[in-house]
Amino acid sequence: MSHFSYKDGVLCAENVPLTQIAQQFGTPTYIYSKAALVENFSSYADACKKHGRNEETALVCYSVKSNSNLAVLNVLGKLGSGFDIVSGGELLRVLAAGGSPRKVIFSGVGKSREEMQLALSHDILCFNVESIPELHRLNAVAGEMGKLASVSLRVNPNVDAKTHPYISTGLKDNKFGVAYEDALTTYRVAAALPNISVTGIDCHIGSQLLDDAPLLEAVDKLIELIDTLANEGIAIHHLDIGGGIGINYDNDKPVAVGDYLSRVFAKIDAWRAKNHQDTPIKVLFEPGRSIVGNAGVLLTEVQYIKHGETKNFAIVDAAMNDLMRPAMYEAWHGVQPVLQRELAAQTYDVVGPVCESGDWLARSRELTIQQGDLLAIMSAGAYGMTMSSNYNTRGRAAEIMVDGASAHLIRKRESAADLFALESLLP
Ligand code: LLP
Repeated sequence: MSHFSYKDGVLCAENVPLTQIAQQFGTPTYIYSKAALVENFSSYADACKKHGRNEETALVCYSVKSNSNLAVLNVLGKLGSGFDIVSGGELLRVLAAGGSPRKVIFSGVGKSREEMQLALSHDILCFNVESIPELHRLNAVAGEMGKLASVSLRVNPNVDAKTHPYISTGLKDNKFGVAYEDALTTYRVAAALPNISVTGIDCHIGSQLLDDAPLLEAVDKLIELIDTLANEGIAIHHLDIGGGIGINYDNDKPVAVGDYLSRVFAKIDAWRAKNHQDTPIKVLFEPGRSIVGNAGVLLTEVQYIKHGETKNFAIVDAAMNDLMRPAMYEAWHGVQPVLQRELAAQTYDVVGPVCESGDWLARSRELTIQQGDLLAIMSAGAYGMTMSSNYNTRGRAAEIMVDGASAHLIRKRESAADLFALESLLP
């Protein structure tokens, strides 16, 4: 069910008209629906429960990079979510939002010593390690601190996620993970290091996957490896399949989360029965987009309508610095006028004020709009605010979370003074 719908001709987030939010908080503004967040998280949590899994045997680690606002993290943490982080900064956000470090997994190819120290000092659940040099660094840092670092190796299963090349990560020729063929030797290195405790195996093959077949293929390949490792005396206690389930941007038909999880658990249970395992292996998921993507929109106001020689432009007050996805991936986001009008529709490119031809949010859209109208850029909850920048000295948008009939400010709009507060003149 969409939590963004028209009521009496006005687009609302749950029960709050977006016109009211524009009036109260201005534009551009990101707006999230709490009910949508809860519903999306529950589709994972409920599927785990349905398959007899509890927190000890399945953990959903929300991928913080998709939307890291403290209020979002807090809502998910209260629902029992763990967190997948990729920086020390994201760990500090999780802690500030009241998340448990014991449910944090740390991914990423370039962890610094400082980030390792921070994560070890909070006893996070696991480091997803991506290379042998990283293993050695982690072993050294843990040794200095008198800690034992729990490690999972990110294995590159070499399956084609069939998604945009920029967000496909499971193939041989990208920087992520340890090659499948090298996994065994890398595990042997890890197992021999004194301050490393091998606990898991993980992968993440890409993002915005509509079909779960590549993910299930990756699970098969990891299961095979777990058996090989067991024969070497290296016990794997958790299997982390990463994130990746897509959402509907433009008539996309992503697999239902519940169906995907059912197929994962069926596979794992069959393997468990075959191997006569007493305790089920713990399964981890790292979803981002499928939890927050369709829980958010970017609200913007039409500043000018410009009729060019070959095109009409709706120049709005949001830009590529607010929502980078169209410029970066030619991503498609729906555009909905907040007020439904009885005017003739025209075709527009929706563009921002930034001085770049790449500054567009949507192209060739039939819209019924006039100057001053509000537009909602849909499905903008994931990789929207987190990828935003201050290019052109534009303050980042405000963020609002709607809960029923209330709209809460969860991040103030940045002022110009905020943007240069850390800068200084020469003496
Ligand atoms: N785990 C790892 C290790 C990841 O690298 C990612 C996303 C996720 C989990 C979450 O994946 P999701 O469930 O959201 O697909 N900026 C791009 C997406 C980049 C994804 C990066 N990794 C976009 O706007 O489409």
